[in-house]
Amino acid sequence: MTLPRSVEDADVRGKVVLVRSDLNVPLEGARVADDTRIRASLPTLELLLDRAAAGVRVCSHLGRPKTEEDREKYAMQPVRERLAELLPDERVTLLENTRFDPGETKNDEAFARELAGGCDLYVNDAFGSAHRAHSSTVGVARLLPAYAGLLLRDELVHLARLLGDVERPFVIVSGGAKVEDKLGVLQHLGSRADEVLIGGKMAEEIRAANPFSFDTVLPSDVVAAAAFEADAETQVTPYDALPEGWLGLDIGPRTRDDFAARIAAAKTVFWNGPMGVFEWPRFSDGTVAVAHALADCAGFTVVGGGDSVRAVHEAGVADRISWISTGGGASLELLEGKELPGVAVIPVA
Ligand code: 3PG
Ligand code: MG
Repeated sequence: MTLPRSVEDADVRGKVVLVRSDLNVPLEGARVADDTRIRASLPTLELLLDRAAAGVRVCSHLGRPKTEEDREKYAMQPVRERLAELLPDERVTLLENTRFDPGETKNDEAFARELAGGCDLYVNDAFGSAHRAHSSTVGVARLLPAYAGLLLRDELVHLARLLGDVERPFVIVSGGAKVEDKLGVLQHLGSRADEVLIGGKMAEEIRAANPFSFDTVLPSDVVAAAAFEADAETQVTPYDALPEGWLGLDIGPRTRDDFAARIAAAKTVFWNGPMGVFEWPRFSDGTVAVAHALADCAGFTVVGGGDSVRAVHEAGVADRISWISTGGGASLELLEGKELPGVAVIPVA
């Protein structure tokens, strides 16, 4: 993969730098519920400060604001406060939600000019938004000398290990409900994998008719629930013997062991999508087992996508995964073989 030129090679002393980070974090009321993305954006900001930038203007979108009320709901203030706690430096300012300007998502040039105004150069560190061709990710890069931030480059480097020659066995674990969203990735990646393990809702859809040109490993048993409820009556059944009207809400114990053994033997693993309704503790064992199996695997392990990343954190094994991507859609599009517009617009070194 050709990497965009790095902020490390930019001369930033005395300059005002516009930084696009992905600070699109989950909120609980007016509080940042998870600051992973804020923390992940710090190394680039610290580098700019260490190298004596005169000003660091950070911008990001937050949520998908549409109405007037959304302007309150998605105001940057909680993110600004958290960022100031983590990085108290007067030279850092956080602009208001880029999506409050209707031009942003249209990659409007006038809005890009507004963002670029008074800045000397531009650093894109927003890997999670690199699949969006917006004013703050693409437009400004055409107006200012553009560089890639440390996180953006790190994501590309680590995810590229899944694109090139991988160490084998290469195992892909996929789940979650949105089969259509993942077909592209799996078609691109799956035929290169030695094994594709599929759980969750996705497995059910694939069992009926395999849409892929390769074989998949499907669950052999399932935790069945009498209703789609957190406290529903449950029983473990063979995967192909679900009682009429019952729902498979997690992979069963035999499948957990089977998947864990296959993951243990892998040299490269990519996981996207939970094995069941893991938000409900009684249906989380399969997803937690996969998280632990990745953590215990000695090979190169990558987790991408919001739900699986959350599962890895909740299972307490995040520090034993080789790479946790801050990008959901962006990592999927990259692995699908697509060019990311926010990356393509930055000159290579
Ligand atoms: C994400 O959370 O996936 C990124 O921040 C992109 O957000 P978007 O899907 O609203 O463009
Ligand atoms: Mg998204």
